[in-house]
Amino acid sequence: MTVTLITGANKGIGYETAKQLLELGHTVYVGARDPERGEKAAAALGARFVQLDVTDDPSVNSALATIGSAEGRLDVLVHNAGVLGNGATDGPTALRVFDTNAVGIVRVTEAALPLLRRSSNPNVVTVSSSAGSFWAVNNPRRPEFGLPLALYSASKAAATMLTVQYAKSQPGIRFNAVEPGTAATDMTAAFGVGRRPEESAAVVVRLATLGADGPTGTLRDENGELPW
Ligand SMILES: NC(=O)c1ccc[n+]([C@@H]2O[C@H](COP(=O)([O-])OP(=O)(O)OC[C@H]3O[C@@H](n4cnc5c(N)ncnc54)[C@H](OP(=O)(O)O)[C@@H]3O)[C@@H](O)[C@H]2O)c1
Repeated sequence: MTVTLITGANKGIGYETAKQLLELGHTVYVGARDPERGEKAAAALGARFVQLDVTDDPSVNSALATIGSAEGRLDVLVHNAGVLGNGATDGPTALRVFDTNAVGIVRVTEAALPLLRRSSNPNVVTVSSSAGSFWAVNNPRRPEFGLPLALYSASKAAATMLTVQYAKSQPGIRFNAVEPGTAATDMTAAFGVGRRPEESAAVVVRLATLGADGPTGTLRDENGELPW
């Protein structure tokens, strides 16, 4: 049985990813910062719930300790929790966006590494964004070219770089970042764009179910590797 943790899995792409991985037979831990929302989502899915706020070290450590006690290892980690941080471009907003989208990846990865090392096929997927790709934001043919989301884009560039750096420093564990494709979730509701979140979740699931011979240290979307 593959043991999987998904952060921010109480709704949106994370929820749909949990659903699809459960259908594939994974034991899925739904990480959510709010116990009520998390318990409700886990019950609806038939998954397990761990309270996990990626901006809070004790919460992250306790979530991984719970999984360690119950399972003894972690096979798949999906860094999905994220915030858009639209509105003000100021210090407090920047700290919140980077704390969630980038520092959160460091917190959760560091707490998860001992459990990932006990897996026979450890696999980490970062739900990043091509909004953090220098190639995409400088390409007038890409939608990211006109996206006025400086903090989100910069934090996702950091998320992708962290993923690549972990791939280098942890050669026994696969680390890939993914652009899931624009999905209609609470995050994008103000823009009125995006496809069904389950379609974007399928892109995350493809990476989360790669075999041991799969790539590492890449940024990909559903069509393959992206320049970043
Ligand atoms: N939607 C898109 O088009 C799109 C495109 C590219 C990349 N992405 C990325 O996909 C991921 C999922 O986004 P989504 O579209 O599904 O958005 P969403 O529906 O807003 O879901 C975001 C999830 O992250 C959780 N979260 C936020 N801050 C957290 C924290 N501090 N600790 C733990 N969980 C936290 C939210 O929990 P609460 O319910 O408690 O707020 C929620 O479960 C994000 O990383 C996003 O950047 C999305």
